[in-house]
Amino acid sequence: IVRLLTTPDMKGLKVLVTAGGTREPLDPVRYLSNRSSGKMGYALARAAVRRGAQVTLVTAARGREAPAGVRVVCVETAQEMHRTVMELFPQQDVVAKAAAVADYRPREAAAEKIKKHQALLVLELERTPDILAALGRQKQPHQTVVGFAAETGDLEANARQKAAQKNVDLLVANDVTMPGAGFDSDTNIVKLVYPGGAVVPLPCLDKLSVAHQIWDAVLQLRRAGRE
Ligand code: CTP
Ligand code: CA
Repeated sequence: IVRLLTTPDMKGLKVLVTAGGTREPLDPVRYLSNRSSGKMGYALARAAVRRGAQVTLVTAARGREAPAGVRVVCVETAQEMHRTVMELFPQQDVVAKAAAVADYRPREAAAEKIKKHQALLVLELERTPDILAALGRQKQPHQTVVGFAAETGDLEANARQKAAQKNVDLLVANDVTMPGAGFDSDTNIVKLVYPGGAVVPLPCLDKLSVAHQIWDAVLQLRRAGRE
């Protein structure tokens, strides 16, 4: 699906998008992270700005050029992303959490580089704050929150459960083991999962087209909410 003409149908909307995989320091030279490339989040920011939205991108992705016209805030850790997103949330109409946020971080980052003295090294990890769940709890009636879910198992069941638990308006679920979907791919195959249980599968599309489909769904939800 190619959009030749982009109508400014998101004009007046303040949109926050998160992107990339957070990095959790282990010592001064190492971190724990994940395979997220940031492509989906950047595509969402690009699509929204083209449609006239006022876009802030909170990103942990590196080496990626920000789309023109987007306000960019760079973060590193889940904690920093949490702080930044919660601070910006009250001013937003829509938030899309495409970032792959670390679920665990080293309980303590070593002040000095960890030396290879031991044959077996055990790391102690602690949970990070769940940003999406916090947004779901604080959400006001005029705000739309979109979550993402990367799954390797029963996609629909897990996604339905996440959508309900986190009180999101829409959950974009993708099976990261499928060819043409997920990390670092230029395309994605997603299912739009609504908290009521409805599931809309999309075909394999480039990530910018997936982004436009997500914004279409968001606008539809907001229109329905006003009726
Ligand atoms: N997320 C978040 N904060 C976290 C972890 C995840 O905001 N600390 C968000 C992600 O940005 C994504 C959604 O939650 O939009 C789902 O992420 P996912 O990893 O699929 O689900 P989790 O809730 O972390 O559950 P699990 O990893 O156990 O499947
Ligand atoms: Ca997770």
